Amino acid sequence: MSQDLLYERLADRMRRQIQRGVLRAGERLPSLRRLGRDQRISLATAVEAYQQLEREGLIEARPRSGYYVRAAAGAPPRGSRARHLARAPMPVSNPALLGVLDVQSRRDLIALHAATPDASMLPTAALAASVARAMRRDPHTALSYTVPQGLPQLRERIAQRYAQCGVEIDPDEVIVTAGAMEAISLTLRTITRPGDIVILESPTYHGLLQAVSAQGLRVLEIPNHPGRGIDPAQLRELLERHAVRAALLVPNFNNPLGSLTSEASKREIVAACAAHGTALIEDDLYGELAYSGERPSPLRRYDDGEHVVTCGSYSKMLAPGLRVGWMLGGRRRSELLRTKSFSTVATATLPQMALIDFFARHDMERGLRRLRRTLAGNAQIYRQALLDHWPDGTCVAEPAGGMTLWVELPPAIDGQALFEAAMARGIGILPGHLFSNRGDYAHHVRLSCGQPWDKKIETALKTVGELAKGLQG
Ligand SMILES: Cc1ncc(COP(=O)(O)O)c(C=O)c1O
Repeated sequence: MSQDLLYERLADRMRRQIQRGVLRAGERLPSLRRLGRDQRISLATAVEAYQQLEREGLIEARPRSGYYVRAAAGAPPRGSRARHLARAPMPVSNPALLGVLDVQSRRDLIALHAATPDASMLPTAALAASVARAMRRDPHTALSYTVPQGLPQLRERIAQRYAQCGVEIDPDEVIVTAGAMEAISLTLRTITRPGDIVILESPTYHGLLQAVSAQGLRVLEIPNHPGRGIDPAQLRELLERHAVRAALLVPNFNNPLGSLTSEASKREIVAACAAHGTALIEDDLYGELAYSGERPSPLRRYDDGEHVVTCGSYSKMLAPGLRVGWMLGGRRRSELLRTKSFSTVATATLPQMALIDFFARHDMERGLRRLRRTLAGNAQIYRQALLDHWPDGTCVAEPAGGMTLWVELPPAIDGQALFEAAMARGIGILPGHLFSNRGDYAHHVRLSCGQPWDKKIETALKTVGELAKGLQG
């Protein structure tokens, strides 16, 4: 068994023991050496298991004393307030979702609301040169329709990248789209019919709620934990109770929590959906942005293309404005391709040609390493600033990747009121209730840490902290 699996299994077992109260708050855990000896695992594996549980806030290391179960480990940590399982599927009914467009249209805001890395963190000049070169070299092709599936060289490149994280696919399975959002919307349109039930995480990205709403679907929400994503046992419970057509999940660094589902859970999630004939639509947009530098597997790694459609894009690693994404269609490839060609004919040719040129000249991995480091550093600095300058009692989830920070405010502060007060000062943030179908998370806000840390951002964070204190008072 690989090291990865060993440490995850051990962490999973201990997590369950903590949740069931077998390991109690304040209890001292076996030393790393003893754990290694008892479980017949290497010291490195024991360290990884403890570090995983520490990241999830379940245990803590005390200097010169060892590891202990944390006091609040059994309860769902604040900053997530993992909600109860939904009892009945509901149509998308959150009117606030319409308001997102107004925020997205504003260009004058300090952009703490936009979950994209600032252009200065992306290879903007190199991409601009690639666009110009592609246009100069072959303007006729660049300005013509291309095939609905997308340019072959680009699809090969996408398939090669997935091969590096254990997903061997034929480039013919890849369909190029206008960003991940088009891939997700087309997949929903292909797989579901209005009135069908889909499972979404809670909290989840408001764009996914909008896509589900456009298709007239009913939603069941499943609590999403900041450290470890959704619980496969809860998913099984929902699948047993309802005829669920599809689950639309973000297992790698979900927006807004930045949570990462463990490999063991991913395997269970795929198996549960396969057993119930439920399709899995995976939004893998942030998979390349792990702060640890280790690319987590997509769900597709645990499926042969029968149940999972993986969607992704270059929006968060290269440029959101190129609008180039993809789906790995698996056995649904032909159906998805038909939906794609009937709706948008093909994805724009010039950005695809520019990307092919860019990849021929630049090592994307180098740029990604830098981007991951910058985002990881930003997440820490932003988070600390929030804890220092926002009202006492503010909780901030600790993301493991991506670029969003999920903030739980003290109960007296309303997230919508804080959003409005910040907007009035030219600072963009998003209210928490956008991230749930039922308008939950009234006392949350979501921030992006995609802007370079500087005086302007520091001042903006302090200003919103002061506004929050004012609302509390
Ligand atoms: C989880 C998630 N999915 C999809 C998108 C949209 O991605 P794209 O620009 O590739 O359409 C976003 C954008 O923030 C996101 O956070």
